Amino acid sequence: MPFITDDPNMRRDWLVAGPATAEPRTTRLLGETIRLWTDASGTPHCRLGDEPLAVQSRYGYFWVCPDGRPVRALFDFPEYAEPGRRTIDCGGIGVAVSGLRVVENFLDMAHFPFVHADYLGKVPHTEVAKYKVDVDPATGEIWATDCRFWQPRASAAHDSGSEVRYRYRVMQPFSAMLYKSSFRAGALDAIGLFLQPIDEEHVIAHTLLACYDDNSTDAELIAFQHTIFGQDKPILENHAFKRMPLEGRAETPTRGDTASVSYRRWLRERGMRFGVLQPAGAAA
Ligand SMILES: [Fe+2]
Repeated sequence: MPFITDDPNMRRDWLVAGPATAEPRTTRLLGETIRLWTDASGTPHCRLGDEPLAVQSRYGYFWVCPDGRPVRALFDFPEYAEPGRRTIDCGGIGVAVSGLRVVENFLDMAHFPFVHADYLGKVPHTEVAKYKVDVDPATGEIWATDCRFWQPRASAAHDSGSEVRYRYRVMQPFSAMLYKSSFRAGALDAIGLFLQPIDEEHVIAHTLLACYDDNSTDAELIAFQHTIFGQDKPILENHAFKRMPLEGRAETPTRGDTASVSYRRWLRERGMRFGVLQPAGAAA
């Protein structure tokens, strides 16, 4: 059985495998090297050695289902094709930590004033106001809504402080989306975070913008995302545990992390094992 995990949460879902290119390229997925390309008719292909794998091309990326029997369709991302939005692939960044940690960090507003000082937060504006977290019964996705945070410079388009409104969405254990106040009144920018699992302690983080911004160049928007991610990366890679504890008291939840608590519960309910710290004494 190829691939390093038997966790159906990974084997039977659609996993991002980088930008959907025409030129053949190789990349790593769950401990294997796979080859991907798009043929002249626009059909995507994926091979592990000589073996064809299930693949689709959506939202500018290849998505691979390792064992070919997906339990669900790939999530919807209607903003990707919405007229007037700019969609920008900000490139893949390698991070040496479990993908579950990267999503958990993405959902956490409390770190903004400390890790993203002068960008996404600033002392003394440290309070995370109460917000709502629900699981959508139709899609099984987590939604965190009514999130608000004071930010000195919320995006490349902002040059002064404002209270920014957020909505978070977790579509897959390794995929999340953030919607936040945009340059255009009443509309929300969408920022997708799609994690390509290399192994249990390494991912490539792909960030995709679907935003309104009439002022910034693509290079400026990408540079802003890289600045923010560059602030998170060393923190993520310095976790005492590279994998995420789901059981017990390995880490005590703190205030303002309702989304993190819900995400961990949601992972437990799915029987998530890949990227999870096994309790001492448990079989690996
Ligand atoms: Fe961050």
